[in-house]
This record gives sequence, C-alpha cells and structure tokens, in this order.
Amino acid sequence: PEISRRKFINVALGTAGAVGGLGLVTALAGVRPPNRITFSKLPAVGGDTLVHAEGDQSGQPIKVADLSDKITRAWPQGKDKNGNVVIKKDEPNNLLIVYKFAPDQLVAPTNLQATQQGVVAYSGICQHLGCQVGDNASKPETILCPCHSGAYDPRAGCKVIGGPPPKPLPQLPIKLDGEGVTATGPLEAPYFG
Ligand code: FES
Repeated sequence: PEISRRKFINVALGTAGAVGGLGLVTALAGVRPPNRITFSKLPAVGGDTLVHAEGDQSGQPIKVADLSDKITRAWPQGKDKNGNVVIKKDEPNNLLIVYKFAPDQLVAPTNLQATQQGVVAYSGICQHLGCQVGDNASKPETILCPCHSGAYDPRAGCKVIGGPPPKPLPQLPIKLDGEGVTATGPLEAPYFG
C-alpha cells in the first residue's frame, strides 16, 4: 500500500492508551515509555545540518523535521561533485526516528558507546522493502512498519521483533552536546537498497 510521506515522525510517548486484559497489563509492567526530549540541531558529519528534532509539551511526540535543502549522508541516492551523498529536502529517506529512553532501558545490541543519556536515532525506512516506519500508539516501545507488519525494538538496536524485515533499522551514531546532537558517523545504507 501507498504510504504517505510525513515530514514529522511521531514517536508515541506515554500514550499507551487503554490497555485491556490483565495479561497485557502484566506484560507492560516495568516498561517505561521514552521520555520527552528537546533537540536543537543534528549537525551532520562535516558540520552540515542534518535534521531538526524538537519536543513539544511533556508527553507529546518528538518531531523530526528536515531543515536543509541539501544534506549529506551516507546513503545511495546519488553523489555531489565532492563524492558526498546528497539527499534533498522532502525526500522520504531524509527521516530519522529519535527516542530518548531511560539509559537502563537500553539493551544490547544498541550501540551504547554512541548513545548518551539514553538517546538513540534510527533510520525511518524499513529494511524490508523501504516503507516508512512509524510509532505504535498502543506499544510505544515498538516501531512498526505499516506495509507488512515489520516490528523493531528501539531499545535494543532496533532488532527485528516481528514481520519480514531481514535486518535491524540502521542506527545513527550520535553525540550529545547540551541540547544539540551531532552525528559522529554515517548512517548505514538501507539493506533493501
Ligand atoms: Fe516494512 Fe515490508 S516494507 S515490513
């Protein structure tokens, strides 16, 4: 099915909603949803602006917006004259999903060395056939792909926990600097590509 583009990635925060059944309540016990976070800029490798991520009010989704007309990232969409990969504004691949978890909620294989203060950033493009993944309102700790029900766990390096994706979502290595976030390396190219 056709997936509409969204400039903003909504990350469900504390919106588990009504939960029915004691078994499910028990299963969710102890799972804390991601916390609100406010980012200023996400400068890309080389200093260019990569994306902008900004939290709204407490408990509201994180918004991730692409700001620059051209950003460079390790992505196979074409290269500029300097050999950098260029992604233009509004291209769907210009998307990240950014979470902030309590640090003790993150588990391997998340790249903990590149993760500070519980913040992790992943590609928003499904590793199966390239659909745009999104939040799961009833299960905030899971990223879902609407195309074939692929599911990823952002607490654990976005390992696949359901559906056909063959690999985890690529994780962007980042470094926090105040409220800013700097990408310290390239984003791995998508498997499907
Ligand atoms: Fe995501 Fe198929 S494209 S599960």
